[in-house]
Amino acid sequence: MQAEFVISSPDLAGRPERILPEFAFIGRSNCGKSSLINHFLDRTNLAHTSGKPGKTRLLNYFLVDDRFYLVDLPGYGFAKVSKKMRAAWFDLFRRYLMAQDRPLAVFHLLDGRHDPTAEDREVAGWIRESGHPSAVAVTKMDKVGTNARSRRYQDIIGALDLGPDTPFFPTSAVKRTGRQDMLAWVEALLAANEADD
Ligand code: GTP
Ligand code: MG
Repeated sequence: MQAEFVISSPDLAGRPERILPEFAFIGRSNCGKSSLINHFLDRTNLAHTSGKPGKTRLLNYFLVDDRFYLVDLPGYGFAKVSKKMRAAWFDLFRRYLMAQDRPLAVFHLLDGRHDPTAEDREVAGWIRESGHPSAVAVTKMDKVGTNARSRRYQDIIGALDLGPDTPFFPTSAVKRTGRQDMLAWVEALLAANEADD
């Protein structure tokens, strides 16, 4: 899989000029978005990861196989930002999500170690409202014991009110699991999109 960084943009106007299907990685700050992108792309640190929440500040576009983009978005729910900045982030999310001018699909990431938050639920609602195809990826599953897993999945499905058709991918960037299923979903959407053209 070939991947290269294309552009960082603080707003919608700065998205790449070339329109291709986009797969956005959306989730709470520090939930593992950049790590999962690297895992998906089989790269070490193309998307910058950090132990410090709030690392990703812009819409970061990666071009994959000259066919589609992965978009690393800033995380929501980061406690140590001003109200004004938080509002600006949510505004950017909403406008990015609601835009209907590009083919967009969303991976909503939930940290497997934690209960979903009110913000997770709110974002899930927006994703639904946007009408874009979406999947849930649960991250850091290496940190969740086998016995706790099915309970955690049920909690997430319940909290986000996910329908039975929503693809649901347990993943671990550390153990390098979950990638094949994510890839299969991406390929299926790309094939559907190409058939439309
Ligand atoms: P922001 O850009 O700050 O919103 O964070 P992010 O969602 O991009 O998270 P990032 O990928 O930077 O990872 C945050 C922290 O979680 C880092 O310390 C990672 O090493 C750790 N992490 C990410 N994925 C996994 C995983 O699958 N397992 C474990 N154990 N840790 C992970
Ligand atoms: Mg990040």
